[in-house]
Amino acid sequence: MGTSMDRRQFIKTAAGGVAGAAMLGAMGELPRALAQEKPAPVFPGKKQFAGSGVVRKVTEDILYLGVDDRRIALFENVYPVPRGVSYNSYLLLDDKTVLFDTVDRTALNPFFENLETALNGRALDYLVIQHMEPDHSAALSQVMARYPGVKLLCSAAAAKMIEQFFDFKVEDWGYTVKEGMELSTGKHKLTFVEAPMVHWPEVIMTYDATDKVLFSADAFGTFGALGGNLFADEVNFQEEWLPDARRYYTNIVGKYGQQVQDVLAKAGTLDIAMLCPLHGPIWRQELGWFLDKYSKWSSYTPEEPAAALVMYGSIYGGTENAATLLAKRLSQGGKRNVALCDVSKTHVSDLIAEAFRCGHIALASATYNMDVFTPMKNALTDFAAHNLQNRTYSLVENGSWSPAAASKMEAILSGMKDMRKVGETVTILSTPNEETAQQLDKLGDVILAALDGAAPAQAPAAAESAVGWKCRVCGYIYEGDPLPEDYTCPVCGVDATFFDKVEL
Ligand SMILES: Cc1cc2nc3c(=O)[nH]c(=O)nc-3n(C[C@H](O)[C@H](O)[C@H](O)COP(=O)(O)O)c2cc1C
Ligand SMILES: [Fe+2]
Ligand SMILES: [Fe+2]
Repeated sequence: MGTSMDRRQFIKTAAGGVAGAAMLGAMGELPRALAQEKPAPVFPGKKQFAGSGVVRKVTEDILYLGVDDRRIALFENVYPVPRGVSYNSYLLLDDKTVLFDTVDRTALNPFFENLETALNGRALDYLVIQHMEPDHSAALSQVMARYPGVKLLCSAAAAKMIEQFFDFKVEDWGYTVKEGMELSTGKHKLTFVEAPMVHWPEVIMTYDATDKVLFSADAFGTFGALGGNLFADEVNFQEEWLPDARRYYTNIVGKYGQQVQDVLAKAGTLDIAMLCPLHGPIWRQELGWFLDKYSKWSSYTPEEPAAALVMYGSIYGGTENAATLLAKRLSQGGKRNVALCDVSKTHVSDLIAEAFRCGHIALASATYNMDVFTPMKNALTDFAAHNLQNRTYSLVENGSWSPAAASKMEAILSGMKDMRKVGETVTILSTPNEETAQQLDKLGDVILAALDGAAPAQAPAAAESAVGWKCRVCGYIYEGDPLPEDYTCPVCGVDATFFDKVEL
């Protein structure tokens, strides 16, 4: 009905429009050549977003130009961000002016307003592109158009990507930089630090030795809009931000633990007073606390070794009952922060974050067409894709005629590194009964002992390869030995001669 009304209305309006035009004609002609008689005005522009951008001082010479995005529902079109996200960008005002990264396309207007305000009439000399992912590089060509003479600085890998995303070559507009290269801007000395696969191959960080600031690209970032705050010590980070910081790291960079460890080792050689990431607040206090989190996450060390994640996939509730009995046993046994998660209701990015937090993962799944219940299967596949490793796990399966979920879960886990099973698999037939409830209690006790470091875990499900080969260009690790002669790096494409043998 609404459609036909709209249509009628449209016809009426259109008819009125025609009649109106005829009437206008009858009232005489508009002055001819209006544009020639009056000089064309210069459009003054309008600050439509005045006030939505926030320029704040980071140090005496460094300004924050970033923009909050509170309307985005899914970051990277996959991660829910109910607290929003910020796209950070920084400007160094020295004898030369240097912009570090831009913002997402949704944030262009306030960003350019911030840039214009911060430059206050000065020219822009350099744009350092630390990361080519479009949430930071979307404004690239517009910066170049608005600030003629700006020189681009980026890695060789970023230069290649620029030709894919834009219609120009870096060699015509700037320079590529390498590890250790320096740029003096007057008072400040900038050094470029390569950070391949944190989390794309072209990433560089920049160290400002004068202010002791590390512009760290996506590393040390977090989901969450800043809302006028700028520094981590201005918010309640431990309670309100840490879960999102963990979810950001584990989901976005979690797979590349080795590469993050490499960067942490380099950062250890620098005198850093401030970490300026591309998302979330800046760190100027308690850097050690946050670096320690990164050290744990990137080495796949459980952040809370004595905590357990109990995750279940249940259609009608029987498996949910079993998982709840198990979680209750763990809680009664004195464990705090036991996370009981329904895989159908919990976003997989939260499950991944919890799995990185906890020392033990208990998996309970209904059997579904002789396989694992699909949301559980998807979650475990995602765990494997994020390189989750070095955890103890236990299994509960459920089925009404031929339970098969445990062996199928085990098949996925066997492809992951250093996953150690504790306790016997508990098999539920439709719903827990007295006997299986007792088995769950027993499993709970074995898990409690494992969390206390007392229970012997069974041998790792998969044979571990102790030796691998590491790409010198991007840090990619090939697990196994020997490296095939005709091997090419799946990340950056170089051949086998670029690989060095490493202990895993
Ligand atoms: C689509 C579908 C496929 C299933 N496939 C199997 C199966 O292959 N083997 C089996 O033993 N049970 C199978 N079941 C039954 C459930 O695994 C069983 O009823 C279980 O107790 C459900 O646990 P829940 O109460 O936690 O949902 C299937 C159920 C559904 C809805
Ligand atoms: Fe990124
Ligand atoms: Fe990013």
